[in-house]
Amino acid sequence: MKKLLALALALVMVLGAASAFADYKVAFSQIGQESDWRTANTDSIKAAIENHEGWELIYDDAQQKQENQIKALRNFITQGVDVILFTGVVSTGWEEVLKEVNDEGIPLILVDRLPDCIDQIDYVAAFGGDFVEEGRRQVAWAGEYLKSIGRGEEEVNVVIMEGTTGASAQVGRTEGNLAAIEAYPNMKVVGQQSGNFTRAEGQALMESWLKSIDKIDVLIAQNDDMALGAVDAIKAAGKVPGKDIIIVGCDSVKAAFDAIVAGDMNATIECTPLYGPFVVEAVEKLQAGETMSKEIIHPEEGAFDTDGGIDLGTVVSVKAADVIDQRQY
Ligand code: AHR
Repeated sequence: MKKLLALALALVMVLGAASAFADYKVAFSQIGQESDWRTANTDSIKAAIENHEGWELIYDDAQQKQENQIKALRNFITQGVDVILFTGVVSTGWEEVLKEVNDEGIPLILVDRLPDCIDQIDYVAAFGGDFVEEGRRQVAWAGEYLKSIGRGEEEVNVVIMEGTTGASAQVGRTEGNLAAIEAYPNMKVVGQQSGNFTRAEGQALMESWLKSIDKIDVLIAQNDDMALGAVDAIKAAGKVPGKDIIIVGCDSVKAAFDAIVAGDMNATIECTPLYGPFVVEAVEKLQAGETMSKEIIHPEEGAFDTDGGIDLGTVVSVKAADVIDQRQY
């Protein structure tokens, strides 16, 4: 009987401790679902929160609209959430609402696309891709690849398919693309426009470029979804993607690996969406009262292509076929 009582008491204590955190509300303002990358990002973060004992996920999908994100952030404040995870569809226009979050004393964790007012607001942790470096790697891959096949001196026409205008991923990758092209005098930009990070708009933009530009040798697409849309447009125009037009994407989603193995794309520069583990670590530290560094954390990322071995200065590309089975997204 005594043993039974002790067991019941222990159970009450364990349940009591768990319930002390049972209503810890983790709110996540997501941009939308424009790409395979975004789906993987949503799944990674949602699963990490939902599977964590004592945490409740409050999720909002803003459908690519900044006004929806602003509304969501204000709703989170009204609901009295314990922490907010935030990524901004564009980089500007967040100062007012993020200061409201700060004034309410709700800890803010910045993920993926960081706001340009980052120095004017309080946040507990920030992690996201190094977009400038990703853009630089895209062009460096094309330039070095051309050299490796003996076309380093040939004048080649390049089109740059940009992401959502004003998104930090678009701003950073464009900066990296244009800075890197300076090192390759044989590469000339003949088209530069937004395909909004979606497959459909990538396809439409490529269709229009194929009609209006006489010769396109290289496509730099700031994400894989747009590159894959462009592949469809190139095939429909009777050309051979990956051969007539060299295609470099970004993100390294599974579909891009499949396209590289099939010969439809040439390379993809990695940008990881798998932020679930980062979020868990940061929120656990927050709950434990630990202070975190304000430094922006960029995960380690690679580059993948048909044959591997292209030296991009900061990383050497890996043959996609060798690692396709390990892709998680
Ligand atoms: O912010 C990351 C970018 O957003 C990814 O490269 C793109 O696919 C997504 O839509």
